[in-house]
Amino acid sequence: MANSVLVLGTQWGDEGKGKFVDVLTQQASLVVRFQGGHNAGHTLVIGDEQTVLHLVPSGVLRENVMCVIGNGVVVSPDALFSEMDMLHERGVPVEERLRISGACPLILPYHIALDQAREKAAGEHAIGTTGRGIGPAYEDKVARRAIRVQDLLTLQRFDEKVDLACAYHNATLIGHGMHAVDAGAIKHAAREQARRLAPLIADIPGMIDAHRRAGNRIMFEGAQGTLLDVDHGTYPFVTSSNTVAGAACSGSGCGPGTIDYVLGITKAYTTRVGAGPFPTELFDDVGAVLGERGNEFGATTGRQRRCGWFDAVAVRRASMLNGVTGLCLTKLDVMDTLDTLKICTAYELDGQRIDHPPIGADDYERCVPIYESMPGWQSKTEGATQLSGLPKAAQDYIARLQELTEVPVHLVSTGRERNENVIIEWPYGDLPGQERAP
Ligand code: IMP
Repeated sequence: MANSVLVLGTQWGDEGKGKFVDVLTQQASLVVRFQGGHNAGHTLVIGDEQTVLHLVPSGVLRENVMCVIGNGVVVSPDALFSEMDMLHERGVPVEERLRISGACPLILPYHIALDQAREKAAGEHAIGTTGRGIGPAYEDKVARRAIRVQDLLTLQRFDEKVDLACAYHNATLIGHGMHAVDAGAIKHAAREQARRLAPLIADIPGMIDAHRRAGNRIMFEGAQGTLLDVDHGTYPFVTSSNTVAGAACSGSGCGPGTIDYVLGITKAYTTRVGAGPFPTELFDDVGAVLGERGNEFGATTGRQRRCGWFDAVAVRRASMLNGVTGLCLTKLDVMDTLDTLKICTAYELDGQRIDHPPIGADDYERCVPIYESMPGWQSKTEGATQLSGLPKAAQDYIARLQELTEVPVHLVSTGRERNENVIIEWPYGDLPGQERAP
C-alpha cells in the first residue's frame, strides 16, 4: 500500500492542520511530530468537545494509532505533562499511545525566561514569539549544549549539565535585569519528570521503519507554517525550526522516500499571529469579518490573529518549497458573507512586478500586493460534502486558487467537524464517514 502522508501548513500557521491530521489518522497507524514545540496549537472538534493539543500529536484521540514525538521537537516536560493530564481526564490512555525520542532537546525554565527577556528588550522590534522558550531551546541544540530527554535517565550527569547551563544562561538573564534561574529547582523537578518520561522514550526511527516495512500508513504532522520556516520564511520574523517538508525526515529519522504525499493545508484567506511582513493584511471591516467569523484567536496564546486576503504568491512558493502534492483548502465558509473577494496574484517591489517572495523581512515589508477580484457567493457553504453542492462562485474561487498556486486542490474543509469536507481527490481510499464528490 502506498502510503505515508505529510500534513503541513502553507501560510503563517493556523491553517487548520489539526483537524486534517485527525481526519486522516483514521487511515494511519503512526502519527509523527517532527519540529516545533508547544508553541503549536492544534484544535480538534469532535461532537461538542473541543481539544487543543500543543505537543502531543493530533492522532492521540484515535484508538488504532501510535503517536510519536521525533527528535526535531523541543519538549517542555511541564507542557507535556499538563497535556497528558488533560487527556487523562478525558479518558484517553495517553501513555499507551505516546512515545518520544530521547534526542529531543528539553525546554527548561531558563529558555522561557530568556525568550521573554529578549522580547521585552527588543521593544518595537520584538518578533511576537509565543514566549515559550522555543527559540532559546533550539539555540542550545545547535550550540551543542542542550539537555535532552535522554539525559533524564542519568540524573547525576543531568545535574552537572544543569549547573553548567544555568551558569551560562544566568549571566545573560542577569544582564537583562532578570532573576537568575534556580538550578536546584530544575534538578528537583527532574526526578518526577524522569519517572514519567522514562517509559515513553523509544527508538523513533526504528518505529517509523517498522511501520514502513509493514506497509502501514504513517502520518507526519507539521506545526506552524512554511512562511515561519527559519530558513525560507520571513526571517527574522519566523519560528526557530524548519517547518518545510524536508524537516519531516531530519526531525524524525527517516529517508525522503518514506513520504508519498504532501498535503498543504491552506486557509481560504490569510492570517498571521505575531509581528512580521503580511502584504495582504486588512485593516478594514472585511478583516474584522474574517477575524470574527473565523474566530481568529491564537490557540496557544489567545492573541488576535491578523487577517487578510489570500496570497497566491506566498502559497505558490510554499507549494514549491514543500513539493506539495495537493492542497486542502480550509475555512471557506468564513467567506460566505463577502460580496467581493480579492486574491493577491503578484507583488510590486520598487516599481517592479514580482511573482515570488523576496528573501527576508526587509524587502518583504515593502511588497505591495497586486490583486484581482472575484464575486463572492454570499450563501452558505458550511457543511457541504460535494463540490457540486458548493455555489458556482465558490467553485470558481477554488479553481482560480488552484490555477494561481499551480497545485491541485484535493480537499476542502467546510466546517469544524470531522465529516464536514469535500473530497475532490484522495488517492488513499475512502475517508470513512464522507461521500465522495462525483
Ligand atoms: P516562537 O515559535 O514562539 O519563537 O514564535 C515565533 C513566531 O512564530 C511568532 O510570530 C509566533 O506568533 C509564530 N508562531 C509560533 N507558533 C505558531 C503557531 O502554531 N501558529 C502560528 N504562529 C506561530
